[in-house]
Amino acid sequence: MQKTVMPHVIDLPRIYDPRGNLSFLQNNDGIIPFAIERVYWIYDVPAGEERGAHSHHEGKELLIALAGSFNVNLFDGKEWHHFILNRPFQGLYVPPGYWRTLDNFSSGSVCMVLTSTPYDETDYVREFEEFMKLAENGKA
Ligand code: TYD
Repeated sequence: MQKTVMPHVIDLPRIYDPRGNLSFLQNNDGIIPFAIERVYWIYDVPAGEERGAHSHHEGKELLIALAGSFNVNLFDGKEWHHFILNRPFQGLYVPPGYWRTLDNFSSGSVCMVLTSTPYDETDYVREFEEFMKLAENGKA
């Protein structure tokens, strides 16, 4: 089943300044397609390591490369969608139901994630076989 909202890169506000640039987000700004409930960030990733390898039943996420770069690989059960994040003024919107892996982290990179839900382990699908079963039934 085709998902109604696809993953996509969202341009964030940028305030150019010779002293250094600034970007920002806030709830109800019409830019992020959900209200922010939680923020976490991934950093100090050793070379060659992979993060993620799960999907969410409900949680929506916006991933931002605050520093450095990394790859985000998203699978909808049929097709992979690949993104390179390396700009602190762009966010990748990941709807629920996408298996995701993050890899190819550059040294010093920081991945900030804004999410629509509080942390809840029951919202995770951590087994790929389970994800595939859900996807085949249109329930991923
Ligand atoms: P996990 O979501 O598996 O990391 P990744 O994004 O690489 O898939 O989370 C790793 C650990 O951190 C896991 O034990 C759950 C814990 N955790 C929290 O306690 N709160 C959080 O908000 C997040 C995202 C993870």
